[in-house]
Amino acid sequence: MLDKKSPPRLKLVVLVSGSGTNLQAMIDRSRDGRLHAEIVAVVSDNPDAYGLDRARSHNIPTAVIDYKKYGKKQLPEIPWEILPGNFDRIVEVQRLFPGLRGEELREKLARMMLAERELISVIDKFNPDYLCLAGFMRLLSPYFIRHYQGGAACAVQPKNIALSAWKIINIHPALLPAFPGVNGYGDTFNYGCRFGGVTVHFVDEGEDTGPIIGQAIYPIWPRDTIEDIRKRGLALEYELYSQCLNWIAHGYLQVNISEKQRITFKITDPGYENFLKKMLELSFNN
Ligand code: GRF
Repeated sequence: MLDKKSPPRLKLVVLVSGSGTNLQAMIDRSRDGRLHAEIVAVVSDNPDAYGLDRARSHNIPTAVIDYKKYGKKQLPEIPWEILPGNFDRIVEVQRLFPGLRGEELREKLARMMLAERELISVIDKFNPDYLCLAGFMRLLSPYFIRHYQGGAACAVQPKNIALSAWKIINIHPALLPAFPGVNGYGDTFNYGCRFGGVTVHFVDEGEDTGPIIGQAIYPIWPRDTIEDIRKRGLALEYELYSQCLNWIAHGYLQVNISEKQRITFKITDPGYENFLKKMLELSFNN
């Protein structure tokens, strides 16, 4: 059992594609003790990601995986053997490359996995406890997910219910299961919602369908623009991501399996109510 007074700090590899303001929030909180974790590396698919500069300026090791290199026509060899046997179903569930079929789809997926093979080899050098997606704009294939979460805690209906089976965490800018996909703030706003939200969750093979770790909500006022709500939501994202990692570090997540076999995590932190109140205050005052 974890000693709740002084558990080890989590070792995190953070994956970014862009500006990395969530990464910055984690770096700040890790440095001043609010986040019980150490960022051991930052990895990107984009050599120009500003998140990489943020990491470098804090002496955090960085790496870039050039996905484009694997998209080129003349590859020496595509390792078909790394494609899972039931990939048709997985592709359908995960909505990878809609519109593509057959050989074209197989080839696209195989190229993606080649890039992921390099990504895995880079990440594994740092031996992290968790991978944190923070604005990483690439889909992850079952090949990648299964490398970190075995064949169990990754399927759309996972069979392995141990917390330790879940290693990949994402932050999503909407109140899941509403508005999965790449445009959380825009979709929330355009739907005419009166409240929006942000979600930190474990990653499974579905599209933003993995078990929820934490959520926070913000009001949407009649005068708001998408930019207003993005700003309000991001302020919550910064607090929530670190808090969720702290719950993991301190053993404050308890696994639960519903009658319908859905895995959920219960938060056992005695300070949870205070945290939620703080989040509501933050969002109403922003
Ligand atoms: C955030 O809104 C996050 O929820 C989403 O991508 C955005 C990344 O922003 N997954 P940043 O790069 O952390 O500034």
